[in-house]
Amino acid sequence: MTELTRLYPMVQFKKDTWEIDEFDLASMYLLIGSEKAMLIDCGMGVGDLRGAVEMLTDKPLITVISHNHPDHSGNVRQFDEIWINRKELGQDMPYPLEKRRFDTERIAARQKDCIGNPYTMFHLYPYDINVDLREPAPDTKMPVIRELTDGMQFDLGGGRIVTAYECPGHAPGEMVFLDEMTRTLIAGDALNFSLFLMGAPVESALRGLRKIESLKDRYDGIWNGHHDYRAFGAPLDKDCLPTAIRMCEDILAGNYAPVEEPDAWGQKVPLTRQGEKHSWKTTIRRGRNSISFKESNIFEENRQEGGNR
Ligand SMILES: [Fe+2]
Ligand SMILES: [Fe+2]
Repeated sequence: MTELTRLYPMVQFKKDTWEIDEFDLASMYLLIGSEKAMLIDCGMGVGDLRGAVEMLTDKPLITVISHNHPDHSGNVRQFDEIWINRKELGQDMPYPLEKRRFDTERIAARQKDCIGNPYTMFHLYPYDINVDLREPAPDTKMPVIRELTDGMQFDLGGGRIVTAYECPGHAPGEMVFLDEMTRTLIAGDALNFSLFLMGAPVESALRGLRKIESLKDRYDGIWNGHHDYRAFGAPLDKDCLPTAIRMCEDILAGNYAPVEEPDAWGQKVPLTRQGEKHSWKTTIRRGRNSISFKESNIFEENRQEGGNR
């Protein structure tokens, strides 16, 4: 079998606490306790993630998925067992190769666009999309799926206990993870500077963001699932959460003015796909923060009716 890349950039930003960068596509996290290790998320599916994790630890692995989007569950088939909120089940895991490939190409194109023409002649990422991103082999087993619920705790040994909290908004069953020993909150896509609320009413998202805020004495930084909102290994800037909360409050109060935004990738890239426009969304901006949401899905009570208020 062709060897898949393991050349992920990795940074140990706290003791036994790693951010693993899937080539600008997504960030995975590895928390190593004295008895077990926890992997949070499985990226878009480029390369041999499990092999890379095994370079860092030989402890039995607990694999948790913050939410089932293509860039967070891509490599689940490399693992024997995963924990995920049941609200995230019901769609492919991983997503079809075509979807994951399209997003992967766009991220790589964005990087080239940022760096400039002289560099486009070099191979910027240590993977080959035709080799390292693939459909699971037909004989690959699905991992055993365990249900992840709000408040669930995982004991990694040596006093390292990780608690999962449900924070719907970006996805219906989005989960965040608090490691009190290192005072680290891993937020998946529940919080960042360009928040897409496509999985739950804004009112539910606000509840989730307030939950993250209520834990603030127990962490000293929030690390989200993509490092294009912050330096690699560094937490989100402290203004991200309070600004997102204020913006959700304003949406609920009807106090907002939509803005025109560039595409979700932030750069013009020479790749387009029919129907790719996010026509469903309304976007508002405050400083560096933007939030995109559905005007038909602001209030929890309207969820079933899908009506406006
Ligand atoms: Fe996502
Ligand atoms: Fe994501």
